[in-house]
Amino acid sequence: MGNVAWTWLGIRAAGITAWGLLTAVVLWGILLRTRILGHAASPTRLLDLHRWLGAVALSFLAIHMVLLLFDAYLPFTIAQVLIPGLSSWETFAVALGSIAFWLLIPVSIVGRFRPRLKNAGASLFQRTHWLAYAAWPVATMHYVLAGTDALASWSLALLIAGAGLLVFGLIARGFIPSPGPTRAAGSVVIRTAPTARR
Ligand code: HEM
Repeated sequence: MGNVAWTWLGIRAAGITAWGLLTAVVLWGILLRTRILGHAASPTRLLDLHRWLGAVALSFLAIHMVLLLFDAYLPFTIAQVLIPGLSSWETFAVALGSIAFWLLIPVSIVGRFRPRLKNAGASLFQRTHWLAYAAWPVATMHYVLAGTDALASWSLALLIAGAGLLVFGLIARGFIPSPGPTRAAGSVVIRTAPTARR
């Protein structure tokens, strides 16, 4: 343990945390579109948590990427971190990480300026949201292909648990009727269960 570089441990810890948080962001996004939690969680609270998890996931992702610049064993340049395909180490696996990062950026920017974009903001937000959801499978492939211990039993258990929860959420979304839209604080349209049906 004494010989293990702290940067390497940090890169791995931040990467795994970012992946776990990204999984939670996607799961909360799916929950937001179903009534599976009923009265246990209001749509506004789910939306707040979805946003908060997204911000924390991006912070851990930033740590993951910045630490790569300081790793003594395998130092990355800024270009290698940001531009897919420039890494000489595990080119494809690392490129998937960079692509996942870029897929998350549009929704973060549009989300920030959404209230000011008025009607155009809603459709732009929806489209960029799909890109963000697409980041999950790409980030997961990156994890599996680049992770030192990706196939270790604890890591496989984590991957299966994360993927299982998302599959469960998607199945629930398919079976549990989607609630009607309503306007919540901050002029964000979210979906709530119609009161007439309760
Ligand atoms: C959504 C985006 C990303 C997520 C969720 C993510 C997550 C992860 C995870 C979970 C690992 C495995 C850690 C381990 O057990 O070893 C990993 C490894 C790695 N990631 Fe990322 N990553 C992302 C983006 C990036 C980006 C943009 C880069 C920069 C090029 C990058 C470079 C690396 C490298 C080099 C490794 C191998 C670390 C090692 O084991 O030595 N990742 N990443």
